Amino acid sequence: MPMFPESFLWGAAAAAYQIEGAAFEGGRGRSVWDDFCDREGAVEHGHSGAVACDHYHRFKDDIEIMRSLGLHAYRLSIAWPRVLPEGTGRLNEEGLDFYDRLIDALLEAGVTPWATLFHWDMPSTLFAKGGWVARDSAAWMGEYADLVGRRFGDRVVDWITMNEPQVYIQHGHNDGSHAPGLNLPMREQLLAGHNTMRAHGHAVRALRAASPGPCRIGYTAVGCAGCPIDDSPATIEAGRIATGTVDPNHHFNGPWWLDPVCLGRYPEQGLEAHGADAEGLDDEADLAEMKAPIDFLGLNIYQAGRVRAGEDGRPVDVPLPDGFPTTHFDWPVVPEALRWAPFFAHERYGLPIYITENGLASMDWVSRDGKVHDPNRIDFTARYLEQLKLAIDDGADIRGYFHWSILDNFEWAKGYTRRFGIVHVDYETQVRTMKDSAHWYAEVIRSNGASID
Ligand code: FCB
Repeated sequence: MPMFPESFLWGAAAAAYQIEGAAFEGGRGRSVWDDFCDREGAVEHGHSGAVACDHYHRFKDDIEIMRSLGLHAYRLSIAWPRVLPEGTGRLNEEGLDFYDRLIDALLEAGVTPWATLFHWDMPSTLFAKGGWVARDSAAWMGEYADLVGRRFGDRVVDWITMNEPQVYIQHGHNDGSHAPGLNLPMREQLLAGHNTMRAHGHAVRALRAASPGPCRIGYTAVGCAGCPIDDSPATIEAGRIATGTVDPNHHFNGPWWLDPVCLGRYPEQGLEAHGADAEGLDDEADLAEMKAPIDFLGLNIYQAGRVRAGEDGRPVDVPLPDGFPTTHFDWPVVPEALRWAPFFAHERYGLPIYITENGLASMDWVSRDGKVHDPNRIDFTARYLEQLKLAIDDGADIRGYFHWSILDNFEWAKGYTRRFGIVHVDYETQVRTMKDSAHWYAEVIRSNGASID
């Protein structure tokens, strides 16, 4: 395959609660995920992130792996309750010190840290005060962003405020399958989402004001798309319409979560579709809070729908045939997602784009030869990257790709039953084994994509 653009950034990602462990150590406060994992039946097998990959104690070894792979960047998340145990007010010096050491070790290894502020672990104290449904949540997030900007901004340049609002509102506040496990009426779900977008705006302003050095700030959403099943203009237009449409029955769409942040308005069609539930959300002052200029858009992309054009030109869903390839999560393998989600986002928002997550769960174990053979991960990633390259060739300004994940980890409601890493983790011994895909990815990075055949 021809090479990616010269300055293309190759990285891998993880998130605090999924890998750190040490959940009750070092002065960390509780988060909604600690509470959720305590609920009977909430997480498969009663698993929790209490120990996870013990990255809190083993981060140096993990960074050595990243260095050996030649990763340009590592997307980590800061655990809000580790630095502010009650969410606001009292700082936890030990927690701040952990991130100092982590960031310093990354820089020493030549791996650029990308820091996400909110990857779902809201401090329990703040949840007790209303969580994202409370309007004050925007100010809480601003205080947190100010703290980390001042503390780490001399070394961290690249920041992401939020991770996938679609998911923590859908699963955390609608169907209750993720923390904080709520089933709220739609009106309150929309309010929670509204406040997280206000919180994003507060975080952007606080980070810019607090950072002593240059900073680049982004916002990460799920990159949703209806992928055109062929390249004819009519099919592409159908895909564009599908991708730009809000279905009021769930939160998996782009415009509701990106238009306010990038364009300063809710999508008209979405407001209409949500009707009375959305009343008053298009408040000018609130929208002005949400629209703080950002430097890039982060998209997490795993799967997508497929569409064709109906007779009237409107999109018609193309169902997956029986036996269509799926991952261990049962997510369909739709490589075109990595072409069309960023392409349509580029058209609509014109911002530089980073793929901040992409990958798959597969059933990996250590073979008799001591290696971990994961041909599906290699094939999946090659197919997706090929499609990403097409979007770049079509003019989308896509600047980097982070594989999810660097390590197998705690996969939320699925506990440790789903393995997303390019590095295998034996949770009994904490032994790390690079999978075949890790070696393959190192070569992709080294050759800037040219090794993908
Ligand atoms: C995304 C999450 C990430 C991980 C992957 C598989 O929705 O951002 O933490 O769980 O899915």
